[in-house]
Amino acid sequence: MEEKKKKQNPPPPPTTPLLLLLLSILFIASLSTVSSFDYADALTKSLLYFESQRSGRLPYNQRVTWRDHSGLTDGLEQGVDLVGGYYDAGDHVKFGLPMAFTVTMLSWGVIEYGDQIADAGELEHALEAIKWGTDYFIKAHTGPNVLWAEVGDGDTDHYCWQRPEDMTTSRHAYKIDEKNPGVPAGELPAAMAAASIVFRRTNPHYSHLLLHHAQQLFEFGDKYRGKYDGSVEVVKSYYASVSGYMDELLWGAMWLYKATDNDKYLNYVIDNAHSFGGIGWAITEFSWDVKYAGLQIMASKLLIEEKHKHHRHILEQYRSKAEHYLCSCLNKNNNNSNVDRTPGGLLYIRQWNNMQYVSTTAFLLTVYSDFLRSSDDHLHCHVGAVDHQEILNFAKSQVHYILGSNPMNMSYLVGYGSKYPTRVHHRGASIVSYRENKGFIGCTQGYDNWFNREDPNPNVIVGALVGGPDRVDNFMDQRDNYMQTEACTYNTAPLVGVFAKLWQLEEEQNGSKSLIASS
Ligand SMILES: *[C@@H]1O[C@H](CO)[C@@H](O)[C@H](O)[C@H]1NC(C)=O
Ligand SMILES: *[C@@H]1O[C@H](CO)[C@@H](O)[C@H](O)[C@H]1NC(C)=O
Ligand SMILES: *[C@@H]1O[C@H](CO)[C@@H](O)[C@H](O)[C@H]1NC(C)=O
Repeated sequence: MEEKKKKQNPPPPPTTPLLLLLLSILFIASLSTVSSFDYADALTKSLLYFESQRSGRLPYNQRVTWRDHSGLTDGLEQGVDLVGGYYDAGDHVKFGLPMAFTVTMLSWGVIEYGDQIADAGELEHALEAIKWGTDYFIKAHTGPNVLWAEVGDGDTDHYCWQRPEDMTTSRHAYKIDEKNPGVPAGELPAAMAAASIVFRRTNPHYSHLLLHHAQQLFEFGDKYRGKYDGSVEVVKSYYASVSGYMDELLWGAMWLYKATDNDKYLNYVIDNAHSFGGIGWAITEFSWDVKYAGLQIMASKLLIEEKHKHHRHILEQYRSKAEHYLCSCLNKNNNNSNVDRTPGGLLYIRQWNNMQYVSTTAFLLTVYSDFLRSSDDHLHCHVGAVDHQEILNFAKSQVHYILGSNPMNMSYLVGYGSKYPTRVHHRGASIVSYRENKGFIGCTQGYDNWFNREDPNPNVIVGALVGGPDRVDNFMDQRDNYMQTEACTYNTAPLVGVFAKLWQLEEEQNGSKSLIASS
């Protein structure tokens, strides 16, 4: 749906104060209908999604009732308890790297917008979503230099179309250790350090525990450097890390600095800035694989603090790369390095699961806009200075596109609004709920009877952000169109904080309008 346009201007000035008052109330009422997006609803739904993706034993307060317990023997074969954590997308593999990125982004959202999430009544749910991941990471880190990085494997998993509750595929677990190092040893410290900040006040003991794991894992990751997919062969065709481990190590160190204030982590970010590509690689995506833009933005924010003055030289270089990223998303670079957009205005990086880049960008833009506002500064792009409001407005336009202001009139956040994808590429959602029908559904039976159906999925996977439209805004709501209809946990995660921020802004505006109206 299109955003409703402002109503026409009020008629010429009235003569009596009463009429003036009445008219101003009417005018104000018309202004407040400008936004037709219910951010509070979007926020609630985005957090529900993480309950759909839960693996393990579900708790008594599980709200997504079409799901049941699953993966209860994960790790058994290897003698470790790996029950829990999240399924990554529409399949049942538990991939450590994207799961950790999901938790990092949820935590960052709470760190930036925890007050807004709390005001909207969703803080408990946000903390639960984070803890479901971090509880699992604690289990998976079984020794100082041992991390179980994956359960299940994509190849056997993809032969089957089954509910997680029926799973018969391999649940083999894969670890990284001194002999087989890997990237998750950089992302998990980031996730656990960020989560330790989130739980500092409400659960100090847990926060401490997370920090301890984060520090130990970081040391391991730094000492035994290596690419994840080099060690865990089975991950190669699914989550091969193109950018390698260096961005994760810088990113992990940055989060550890934020969590501990210990200079050794900041020095790591500074000393390795050049050799690890932190200030050399101008890149226009931020994802489970490539962390540079997020790192660069965090580094830029350090510049305003007096105590970081002696690192000014390197931090400025981080900022210059951060600005390159932000300006290219805003279409404000002049050297052909802007991010493409669809005719409908959506940022377009690539065909497969493009929405993941849109949601991470919306988050980084929102955070940077807040930073500029609080530091009374501007973003400096090739084509000129950009103020915080313009940046936020663009982030908002991407959110509006996601929620339905687009050529398909479709919300890509499932369950939001009146029109959304109904054939999401998701095993559990596309098969009758286990709670309703416990009859076993086999591997190929699922393909025959459920995957190949024309009908909409029997279960609505509320809050999932699907891969989204192609480069000309077209979207085909078909189950086998996994590039567009599959959703991933890291697609929705960055939106949680953004929805809360937009909700609070609108509430503030509503509040000031009713103040004017009643004056
Ligand atoms: C565009 O400019 C930025 C910032 O000066 C630079 O980092 C980037 O490499 C340039 N890109 C191209 C394609 O020239
Ligand atoms: C979307 O809505 C607009 C305005 O109501 C309408 O003109 C357009 O045809 C719709 N597009 C689709 C694909 O339904
Ligand atoms: C702001 O006011 C509009 C119109 O009354 C309402 O629909 C919307 O829910 C309000 N938004 C918030 C965040 O309170």
